[in-house]
Amino acid sequence: MATATIPCDVKDMALATLGRERILWAERDMPVLNAIRARFAKEKPLAGMRMSACLHVTAETANLARTLVAGGADLVLVASNPLSTQDDVAASLVADFNIPVYAIKGEDESSYYRHIAAALKHRPNVTMDDGADLVSAMIFIALGRLDDLHTEVRGWAASLSAADRAALASDVVASMEETTTGVIRLRAMEKDGVLKLPVIAVNDAETKHLFDNRYGTGQSTLDGVIRATDLLIAGRRVVVAGYGWCGKGTASRAKGMGAHVIVTEVDPIRALEAAMDGFEVMSMEKAAPIGDLFITVTGDIHVIRGEHFAAMKNGAMVCNSGHFNVELALDQLADLAKTINPKVREFVDEYILADGRRVYILGEGRLINLAAAHGHPASVMDMSFATQALATEWSIKERGRLDNKVHDVPKTVDQWVATLKLQTMGITIDTLTEEQRRYLASWEMGT
Ligand SMILES: NC(=O)c1ccc[n+]([C@@H]2O[C@H](COP(=O)([O-])OP(=O)(O)OC[C@H]3O[C@@H](n4cnc5c(N)ncnc54)[C@H](O)[C@@H]3O)[C@@H](O)[C@H]2O)c1
Repeated sequence: MATATIPCDVKDMALATLGRERILWAERDMPVLNAIRARFAKEKPLAGMRMSACLHVTAETANLARTLVAGGADLVLVASNPLSTQDDVAASLVADFNIPVYAIKGEDESSYYRHIAAALKHRPNVTMDDGADLVSAMIFIALGRLDDLHTEVRGWAASLSAADRAALASDVVASMEETTTGVIRLRAMEKDGVLKLPVIAVNDAETKHLFDNRYGTGQSTLDGVIRATDLLIAGRRVVVAGYGWCGKGTASRAKGMGAHVIVTEVDPIRALEAAMDGFEVMSMEKAAPIGDLFITVTGDIHVIRGEHFAAMKNGAMVCNSGHFNVELALDQLADLAKTINPKVREFVDEYILADGRRVYILGEGRLINLAAAHGHPASVMDMSFATQALATEWSIKERGRLDNKVHDVPKTVDQWVATLKLQTMGITIDTLTEEQRRYLASWEMGT
């Protein structure tokens, strides 16, 4: 049996063989990332960099981690969500790829933050975040706001000198951010004048959110719901809260499976888009009594609250696929319930209301596609993680020239990733003729 010979905190090293199989299976569908790994192995663009990555520990992330290490990074990987870790993958990364991993599926809050502390103790000069928990901790430390830290991080931070606390953030060449919620938090830090390191908004690259958020979340969210419940989607009223990139993907996949899809929104333009895409659009108040399955993908807080749960029909199922477990006001549901039966089956908690109606919460309100299923398919993470790897390389090349702001991924990276992805899919496209290039750059020619 595999044993850990490097510092780590994973569930069970005996799972490593299974994890390795899954990592190699995902690798087959990640040709763009594989090409980057081959080049990184030769050129070592990340050599000398201590890197901490706080990501969902999945088979696809394992292939990103292998790519960063091939590029010369000294990497530590920790979980970005307590329920998203694939324990077999974590074990294999330690046993087969010698990468220190701190992540256990179902870890409690203390373990989650102890793992974040392990990432900070690595004293990274490049970081990668999915939700900005790593950078937020660094900023609280740099600002001396130790009371805002979880106790697992606070104790260590308190032992540092003031200079070391400041250096934790200022030593970072750049931090890549993977998801919408993380970018929102980082922009809020920039607005408040507290962002003390350059951030690259990988989520905002077109090769990321157009595909990962839409097709990845769309497919894997329904996969999570089905694995958790065995529900037949056809004929159900599926209420999708939020018609952003994730919402569009989720709504269209549910429609494709025969659901009657209802969309709720707060943005009039997105609501209009949903209506013209053929979905019924209404308020959550109206949707609550008629929905069979509710899926939140807004990145917002308390989107489904007590008054909505109270109106739901018997047997309604509710889940979240947005980043944090704040979209469902579960404490308000608990107040309404006369009985709570946790885990009536894996990933399903039953809440029995005063009049006997039952409401089912899937995946404890955490992102259902990673809690109950395996997250996005490798093919789509190929693009997200190729963009992550290239953004990391670019930010190191730009070392010292990037302000402490949220930066976009260079357009050339997006174009390169899309071009290579098309090639690997066997798709060729047209190129502009010289005449077309001139025409598109001119204003003189009219009717
Ligand atoms: N599950 C996953 O694997 C996964 C993958 C990518 C992103 N995410 C997360 O999913 C969330 C959504 O990401 P996105 O890229 O679609 O963001 P987005 O900004 O494109 O869309 C969010 C939408 O939600 C709407 N919204 C906000 N508050 C609302 C409310 N109270 N009721 C109804 N609609 C509301 C907004 O108007 C917006 O249209 C984020 O938290 C993001 O980090 C999850």
